[in-house]
Amino acid sequence: MSHIAVKNLAVHYDGYCALKDIEFEAGKGEFVAIVGKSGSGKTTFLHALAHFIPFSGEIAVPKNVGMVFQHYAVFPWFTASENIGFGLGDKSGNERVQIVREHLKLAELEDKKDKYPAELSGGQVQRIAIARSLAHNPEVLLMDEPYGALDAYTRDKMQQWLLDVWATHKKTVVYVTHDIEEAVFLADRVLVLNHHKFTKEFMVPFARPRHEEVKFTPEFSRLRKEIFESINSFEG
Ligand SMILES: Nc1ncnc2c1ncn2[C@@H]1O[C@H](COP(=O)(O)OP(=O)(O)OP(=O)(O)O)[C@@H](O)[C@H]1O
Ligand SMILES: [Mg+2]
Repeated sequence: MSHIAVKNLAVHYDGYCALKDIEFEAGKGEFVAIVGKSGSGKTTFLHALAHFIPFSGEIAVPKNVGMVFQHYAVFPWFTASENIGFGLGDKSGNERVQIVREHLKLAELEDKKDKYPAELSGGQVQRIAIARSLAHNPEVLLMDEPYGALDAYTRDKMQQWLLDVWATHKKTVVYVTHDIEEAVFLADRVLVLNHHKFTKEFMVPFARPRHEEVKFTPEFSRLRKEIFESINSFEG
């Protein structure tokens, strides 16, 4: 059974058509990546899934959806632990302390718990943002280019970290990126968004757990090239 099901989705901004004829499904625990050029509607699709913006068509998603935004979304005036604990006010004090402790550990930031975002590296800040989403125990995690601003070395480490977290927590993930290598490395399936529509789907055949070395295999390069060509076969 699908965990997310989208039928005939369209999104318009003041008459401008940002998405149309969108059909999409994701299974429980599946990791789906979406790639496409800037302006193709990737962020719009995630915002529609989260019901942040008006849309037409049908979107069925579980109630508890977590979102990691394209630009770092942490509170600069809160420490790492305060950021992770933000929005857990409905829990008892003890439970909240416990959840924050667990998620600081998950983010590998136990020793930085009292630091403010300005005192942390980009990768560390993004781990706070992801840990904060996970602290709410969402069934679905929507991620919008979470590593777009990181240097290549940090990004590689963070991809491996995310795969480890995903293997443990088994959330359904919809991951938007413009980085084809990242999409192929992380996902079970890669969808190409072109001109406001999904135009192609690629199954990723690599066994899990996946490690860096897979990126240097001919199969990986071939798939990456096919996806690249699929994106670039459209003008715009
Ligand atoms: N709030 C808005 N009002 C009007 N138009 C918008 C709005 N948000 C996005 N758009 C337009 O919708 C289209 C899709 O935008 P979207 O942000 O979804 O693209 P994207 O694929 O995420 O791009 P990027 O890779 O640059 O983040 C763009 O042409 C954009 O200008
Ligand atoms: Mg975007």
